[in-house]
Amino acid sequence: MNRNISLYEAIGGAESLRRIVESFYPKVQEHELLGPLFPDNILPVMEKQIMFLTQFFGGPMLFSDEYGHPMMRARHMPFPITPKHAEAWLDCMRRALQEVSGLDEELQSYIIERLSGPAHHFVNTPE
Ligand code: HEM
Repeated sequence: MNRNISLYEAIGGAESLRRIVESFYPKVQEHELLGPLFPDNILPVMEKQIMFLTQFFGGPMLFSDEYGHPMMRARHMPFPITPKHAEAWLDCMRRALQEVSGLDEELQSYIIERLSGPAHHFVNTPE
């Protein structure tokens, strides 16, 4: 992977990120552990996630510009998140990355590696 460009650019920018997020949330909604945590209308969550991941991967600061400091762990506190939820979230993301064409395997693993830290950091409830 070319380490001189941002992960956002390596992924393919706005269009690819949108495709990833649009592939990810239906998997989350269908997941028996994750689905019940999310509202039926997933569109606003998708839009926020696109904005957040854009900046998390080194693109424009879309989320902070609109909503202020991300404080992502705090934003997840209302939801009971166990280590199993974190693994399930990452697994849905792994499958979304596989589904979206054009991302080589090294890039896919690197994205998951970068998201593993936050996912486990958001755990706030024991199994
Ligand atoms: C560890 C497992 C995770 C679970 C179970 C989880 C669950 C949730 C839930 C239930 C919401 C609120 C949906 C609503 O608006 O009602 C949410 C929002 C969000 N999550 Fe997660 N999440 C997880 C991990 C992550 C990770 C790893 C990231 C990004 C690195 C992330 C980014 C976001 C963002 C950007 C929002 C929108 C925040 C806002 O409303 O301002 N989540 N998540």
